[in-house]
Amino acid sequence: MADIKFEPAKMLKEKPDVSKIGFGTHFTDYMFAMDYNTEKGWHDARIIPYQDIAVSPANTTLHYGQAVFEGMKAYRQGSKVVIFRPMDHLRRMENSCRILDIPEFPLETVHEGLTQLVAQEKAWVPEQKGQSLYIRPFIFATDPFLGVSVSETYTLLIILSPVAAYYAHGFAPVRIMVEDTYVRAVRGGLGEAKTPANYAASLHAGLVAHQKGYDQTLWLDGVERKYIEEVGSMNILFKIDGVVVTPELDGSILNGVTRRTVLAVAKEWGVPVSERRISIDEVREAYRNGKLEEVFGSGTAAVISPVGVLGYKGQDMVINGGKTGPFARKMYDYIEGLHCGEVEDTQGFIEIVAEM
Ligand code: COI
Repeated sequence: MADIKFEPAKMLKEKPDVSKIGFGTHFTDYMFAMDYNTEKGWHDARIIPYQDIAVSPANTTLHYGQAVFEGMKAYRQGSKVVIFRPMDHLRRMENSCRILDIPEFPLETVHEGLTQLVAQEKAWVPEQKGQSLYIRPFIFATDPFLGVSVSETYTLLIILSPVAAYYAHGFAPVRIMVEDTYVRAVRGGLGEAKTPANYAASLHAGLVAHQKGYDQTLWLDGVERKYIEEVGSMNILFKIDGVVVTPELDGSILNGVTRRTVLAVAKEWGVPVSERRISIDEVREAYRNGKLEEVFGSGTAAVISPVGVLGYKGQDMVINGGKTGPFARKMYDYIEGLHCGEVEDTQGFIEIVAEM
C-alpha cells in the first residue's frame, strides 16, 4: 500500500447541474499530487484540496512544453463507481513520459492515488447515462530555468471534472475538412505522445476549418500529405466494403484507448478489422465506387464521433447520406453500455473503485 497523505478541505463546493456545464469547466474538491526531484525521485504522494498552483515565471514547461497528460472517465453503475481502462491510460502516460524524457513515475502509487481520489470524490460522479467524471492526470517540468534542457524537477497532478454527455443535441455527424497545408505531427516527432505540443499544433488548422464551414480537421501525414493520420484530437476509422480500416500506429498517431476498444469489440463481433496505411486517394476511390460505408472518430471525450462530410480539395464527400452509420451507432451504444453497466464487460475494461 502506498503512503498517500490526505489534507481535508476547509469547505466543499456546491455541485453544478452537469447537464448545463459542457466539458471541462468545473472541478471537484480535491486533487492528487506528487513531486519529483533528482535526490528523492517521485515523492510526497498526497490528496489535497483542489487549488491554484504557483510556478516560477521561468518555469520550463511554460517556455518549452515538457509535459504529458491523459484523459479517462469514471462512471456510475448503479451503486458502484467505475473507471474505464485506467491502467491502459496510465501505461500510455508512461509511454508519453519516455518520449518526453520525463522520469518514470511509480505506476502502482499513481494508480492507487487515482482510485483513492475518485473514491473520495464519488459524490461528483454524475448518475445520468452519458455523463461522467473526466479524470485528467498530467505531469509537467518545474525547473525555473530558461536554458533548453531536460528538467530535473516535475509535478504530477490528477484533477477531476464532471462532464455532460458530449452530444448535447444528439449523436450528430460532423463535417470534416481534409487538411493538406498544416500538419499535426510527423514520424520521428511527438505525435504518439499525449503532450501539449500536438494540441497547440492543431489549433490554427482547426480555426481555418471552422472559417471554411467545417467542424474539424482530418490530418494527413507530414511527409507526403497523402496518408491519413487522425481527425481533430481523435483517431479515425473507416468502414470500407465491410472492413473496419484504421491507420496503423507509426509513431505519429496517438495509440487511442477508445481506438483499441473499438477494434477489440469489432473483432468480438466478427467484423474484419485492418490496421494499415490508408491514403486519402484510397478513401476517395472507395467513395466513388460506393464502398465507403462509414467514417467515424474515436476518443475518450466523445467516444464515437460520426463523420457526415469529408471535404477535400474543394469537394465534399457525403458519407452514408450525411447520417450516422449503423456500425458507428451500434459501437457507440455498446461502449456507452459498457460504461454504464448495461453491457457485460467481457474483456476486463472496467475497474470498480467505490460503492456509494
Ligand atoms: C479525446 O477525445 O479523448 C481527447 O483527446 C480530447 C481531449 C484532449 C479533450
